[in-house]
Amino acid sequence: MSTSIEVRNPATGERIQEVNVQTTEEIQTAIEKGHKEFKKWSKINAHERSRLLQEWSQRIQENKEEIAKVMTMENGKPLSESLGEVNYATSYIDWYAGEALRVYGRTVPAAAESKRIVISRQPIGLVAAITPWNFPAAMMTRKAAPALAAGCTFIVKPAEDTPLTTMTLVKLAHEAGIPKDAIQYVNGKGSVVGPLFTESKLIRKITFTGSTPVGKSLIKGSADTVKHVTMELGGHAPLIIAEDADIDLAVNQTIFSKYRNAGQTCVCVNRILVHESVEDEFAEKFTKAVAKLSVGNGLDEGTDIGPIINEKGFDKVVAQVNDAIEKGAEVLTGNEYVVDREKGYYFIHPTVLRNVDASMEIMQEETFGPVAPITSFKTLEEAIEIANNTPYGLAAYFFTENYKTGMYLHDHLDFGIIGWNDGAPSAAHAPFGGMKDSGLGREGGTEGIEPYLETKYLSVGNLLD
Ligand code: SIN
Repeated sequence: MSTSIEVRNPATGERIQEVNVQTTEEIQTAIEKGHKEFKKWSKINAHERSRLLQEWSQRIQENKEEIAKVMTMENGKPLSESLGEVNYATSYIDWYAGEALRVYGRTVPAAAESKRIVISRQPIGLVAAITPWNFPAAMMTRKAAPALAAGCTFIVKPAEDTPLTTMTLVKLAHEAGIPKDAIQYVNGKGSVVGPLFTESKLIRKITFTGSTPVGKSLIKGSADTVKHVTMELGGHAPLIIAEDADIDLAVNQTIFSKYRNAGQTCVCVNRILVHESVEDEFAEKFTKAVAKLSVGNGLDEGTDIGPIINEKGFDKVVAQVNDAIEKGAEVLTGNEYVVDREKGYYFIHPTVLRNVDASMEIMQEETFGPVAPITSFKTLEEAIEIANNTPYGLAAYFFTENYKTGMYLHDHLDFGIIGWNDGAPSAAHAPFGGMKDSGLGREGGTEGIEPYLETKYLSVGNLLD
């Protein structure tokens, strides 16, 4: 097994840093330490845990510029997006610093005078997280903050492409006063660390953000130890533009939703469905705006679209575009690449395709790249059928000025997150998560702390009248 990971800048292919990979024994030791620490951390009162989380958030904010730079260097996203992600990451810590104080139990009227029924909540234990490369800070804090707030201890394995941001966040947590064994990281391949996590009896919960196939294997692996799981998996978001939509608003919001992080987000718009009466207008305005986006190194000012994370990701996007063109899609802009396989960088110019249909891979599978396919529909029923015709159910978007159309679409779309005239619904104070193959459980909001808590029911009998 390799003993280190070379972290590379996806914009240049250059090596940034080499980080140690933990051995199996070291990972087991980390698990044992986290398990032992749980006894202490879970007993620290909620107000103190909340204070430590606030301190962590503040330290991250104080080091914001440096963290954002590291993130852009290892992930490739534009610096402004990295700065935005640091804020997004601390918003989860801030929210759960508050929720730590609101883990309430309840009492229930008993059927006998001599009884009392008391229901309380307690932290579930040591939690293991596996986090993705596309949001190396926010996906980590979205898991760590509710876990720590609830009184759980936490161990994270970041993506091999982007371990540096996570390592910095864990260091700052320790500097803020959160005990070393209450929050730890381990580096290594998912195929090695994943089974160590799932098979461990000391870990009571796995939380994962990443692909659906990996999520399914973690769920299967967790069955023998009956672990709790939260899975935030793939998406294939439809965006519906109704005939009465505000087209300028739709263009603006679709650009944000589609091209943020070079189209490498689970909630990215993947399929644009436009009512036939406004398709020409939307396609023209959207293409004009997309053609203005600039591609380059995320550290350079003015860059809108950074590189694709790696060769595998690039090849998948290009194969989808070629398949669509072969089957009759029209390229409105883009379909240009800046690639050096030797050095290891892969840029895709933002691309818009028209005349796509269900026979094309791009309409069936998640894209994870800056490519927007446009198709048209005649009726809302048809739009819903196309939108729901996927195993995924993470995010969906629609644009309409009519409340009846809006509520109808809301009621019929099988997705966990819906943006109505809004391409940016994610927020720390709202539940994020999907239906069907997009996952299990929710992160964020009041729902996001629930998966870290057990329910204990006490029945007291033989009481005095
Ligand atoms: C994701 O792509 O998984 C997360 C995106 C978000 O939180 O908005």
